[in-house]
Amino acid sequence: MEQRRFLPGLGRHGEFVRLPRAYRQNVRWIPHIGDIFPDFDATTTQGPIRFYDWAEGSWTVLFSQPGAFTPVCTTELASLARAEPEFTARNTKLIGLTRDSTEDQSAWCAEVEILYDTPIAFPLIEDLTGILTNLCGMQHPKESTLTAIRKTFIIDPGLRIRMIFEYPSRIGRNTAELLRSLDALQHHDVLDVATPSDWKPGNDYLVPSAMSNRDADACFGQSWRAVNDYLRLIDSTGLFRHREVIEGKTGGGSL
Ligand code: BEZ
Repeated sequence: MEQRRFLPGLGRHGEFVRLPRAYRQNVRWIPHIGDIFPDFDATTTQGPIRFYDWAEGSWTVLFSQPGAFTPVCTTELASLARAEPEFTARNTKLIGLTRDSTEDQSAWCAEVEILYDTPIAFPLIEDLTGILTNLCGMQHPKESTLTAIRKTFIIDPGLRIRMIFEYPSRIGRNTAELLRSLDALQHHDVLDVATPSDWKPGNDYLVPSAMSNRDADACFGQSWRAVNDYLRLIDSTGLFRHREVIEGKTGGGSL
């Protein structure tokens, strides 16, 4: 490997990092989990929007796609359209983005609606110049300099980025995983729990690593048990019963 192409740098704790020279010249905002998503004005298939006005108070799934009238994107659009009631049930709005015109996007949506016999009720953002695509790191030049990758942001009702997924052009996303991720985030926010690998609603939760046993007792009552000192499981049904008792409820618990 040719060393001249790399710039040495020191990390915060003195770690040595070699970064390709081109990466070091590329200083701009990279969206991170926890950042407030930027506000923007956009033309969409449902007319002009100001993002904060459109999104505030709901969860948002903002997803970019390489383009209208392409096969993988078509299947993703249909899958999301079919699942839209499940997103609505999670107080979540969908909004897509491509670098096509709204005329092309609308014509494509009309075709997908007929092909899959499902209405597409969510808007698609027109980003002809690529300004939003570039700002949000949706353009990966080695994948394409003209079209966006498949990037997904889950944004919470406070407009904070909570999850980011990136897929290349030829790999379609998984709608069930998006819904599962929303469930995990929303359960985390309400119950102060962590979720294990492959978690699904109804499965055990985990006690977050930063929580003491004493706080776990206070939060989860008898519903948690330690496998060892860092792996602590919470029985979800027991947790709901515990919450009903401490909240004085008689009915079933819901999120
Ligand atoms: C597709 O949606 O199939 C696709 C779009 C752009 C590049 C490659 C695949």
